[in-house]
Amino acid sequence: MTARIATREDRRVVRRAHTTGYLALSSINALGDAVRVPGVGLVVNDAALIRQILLDDVHFAKVGPGGSSELWTPVIGGNALLNMDGPAHTQLRRKLGPLFTPRFLSRIVGDILEPELDAFRRQLGEMGRADVVGYAERAAALVICRLTGYPADADAATAQLARARELLRYAKLTTRRFEGATLAAMRAKLSELTTIARSAYREADRETVPGLLRSQGLGEHDAIAVISALVIAGTETIVSFLPRLAQLLITSGHLDRLADDPSGVDAAVNEGLRVTVPSPVMIRAVAEATTVGGRRVRPGDRIILSTVMACNRAGDFDPDRLVPAEMRHLWFGAGAHFCIGMALATLEATTFAATLADIHATTPLRIVSKRYKTRTIAASYQELILECTPS
Ligand code: HEM
Repeated sequence: MTARIATREDRRVVRRAHTTGYLALSSINALGDAVRVPGVGLVVNDAALIRQILLDDVHFAKVGPGGSSELWTPVIGGNALLNMDGPAHTQLRRKLGPLFTPRFLSRIVGDILEPELDAFRRQLGEMGRADVVGYAERAAALVICRLTGYPADADAATAQLARARELLRYAKLTTRRFEGATLAAMRAKLSELTTIARSAYREADRETVPGLLRSQGLGEHDAIAVISALVIAGTETIVSFLPRLAQLLITSGHLDRLADDPSGVDAAVNEGLRVTVPSPVMIRAVAEATTVGGRRVRPGDRIILSTVMACNRAGDFDPDRLVPAEMRHLWFGAGAHFCIGMALATLEATTFAATLADIHATTPLRIVSKRYKTRTIAASYQELILECTPS
């Protein structure tokens, strides 16, 4: 029962963020596995079909009319992973291999996540309450600073997060391309966001991500495009997820179990991702004519992969149930474009959930107030205040 209440509350978070988009996707989901929607494209709601499309790079592509290259290339440039296909894409991914090494990740934990979680814990201890959204935003901002080569001071971090968010605010579920004044404003924002990354690249400092990309043989333009892609793909997703995960864990009562036995944290995070699907849809262009769930598609068609509806079909939050095989990690995509930041995102979430469980073991946590975000593709809370009571 509590798991159902927690799951319903998460659906409410999504509805409040983009009411029309959510209602449209839910109604389309009720119509079947693959539904043609005039003016939008073919919407796919079934996990097995989505995976099949993601793994098929003969018939489906990122690049082409209706693909995500059409959306992002004018803003960030041509070689930014999320707008590439084929051998050039594979080669660039290979070059990025050294980026998310265990050493890089453990430094993110030691330099950023642990100090921020300590501050969160201290605030709870001293004030009796703390805002999860504040924590998630500070941590994400400091990670952006690390990726863009900024020194990690609080003001720079806040400014960088604000720039990244303004940039993302332009993207709506229905946006096909950015043009005119919007495109100019996005380019200006991106240029501010990556100024220091350019200097770091020129100074070739291998301790920074821009310097590391240079050492991998990327030219300045391509390195900046990749960094832009990391910020675009990796910021709002994690800021959206952490507060929603906290809600699921607390409302469902699962945090009580994690407090007794923290070994369940990985499964709980995994299931939290299945329920929330922070990156709710993916887009593909059709490269060659074929069929999807019995419907014919041909070049020029746009395919909307409704991961959120597909994964929601498995029901309420339940970390004890094995995720159905066709859904496994689908919230991070599949195939050639599988999320390159998965290890980082998972680490941020498990470190956070383990800390909540640890705090809960001695001072039980409860949600005392919440405000929803509205009019955004990155559904979440604007504020989620937790209170702890010494037991
Ligand atoms: C909970 C957090 C996250 C979720 C749910 C998520 C989800 C996804 C999904 C679904 C894709 C595939 C998109 C497609 O195939 O069209 C993707 C790709 C990508 N993600 Fe993530 N992501 C998360 C965090 C991150 C982080 C932290 C970073 C980096 C700092 C990141 C960087 C990327 C990049 C660069 C791509 C494009 C990869 C390519 O096209 O080859 N993501 N992500």
